[in-house]
Amino acid sequence: MVLDFAALPPRDAYAWMVNIITPRPIAWVSTISADGKTNLAPFSFFQGVCANPPTLLFTGANDRHGQKKNTIVNIEQTGEFVVNVVPHALREPMNASSATLPYGESEFDAFSIAQTPSQLVRPPRVTASPISLECKLDRIVLVGDGPLAGNVVFGRILLVHINESVLNAQGKIDAAKLDTIGRMGGDSYARTTERFEIERPD
Ligand SMILES: Cc1cc2nc3c(=O)[nH]c(=O)nc-3n(C[C@H](O)[C@H](O)[C@H](O)COP(=O)(O)O)c2cc1C
Repeated sequence: MVLDFAALPPRDAYAWMVNIITPRPIAWVSTISADGKTNLAPFSFFQGVCANPPTLLFTGANDRHGQKKNTIVNIEQTGEFVVNVVPHALREPMNASSATLPYGESEFDAFSIAQTPSQLVRPPRVTASPISLECKLDRIVLVGDGPLAGNVVFGRILLVHINESVLNAQGKIDAAKLDTIGRMGGDSYARTTERFEIERPD
């Protein structure tokens, strides 16, 4: 089977992509508007970029009317955001926070998600998240145009909060304790409970 992606409507291309590019880590992104209203939403088009300088990216797609999501609007206004890591235990509030609320209405308030002030940026972090990365906007790259076009947000990682409950005796992150989830296609998710090791060649 061969799919001619150039000829596919964007919605169909999207449906194939989210089933093919799996599992995807989830950035649970907190932001704040210029007038101080908080926002929280998950994004699974999310990756690290490089360590020099420490940089990550996630993509907020335009909605079906070609409008930017609230997260993108806020980052354009303030240049700051926090990426919170999502363990299995936080799957329900994470999913709830993906609801489309009117601009200015906070998912923190709507879904009773506790927040803690960040240290270097204005958006708060999710209190229950075991790891939060405070980020400063590097740049936003618009890929495409109109509905489902991508606003790729590059963020410089300034400060990382790590709850010691996810560390092992050596002070390193313990994957079993962190228990992150990944996004598959549709409403499906993956857990990271089954792992294996392969030694890398030189
Ligand atoms: C697990 C998960 C992953 C998601 N990943 C993305 C994504 O990568 N890009 C995107 O534009 N929307 C993604 N969404 C949908 C957004 O979270 C949703 O549109 C949300 O309402 C955006 O909120 P905002 O307008 O407050 O920024 C995802 C939803 C879920 C539940």
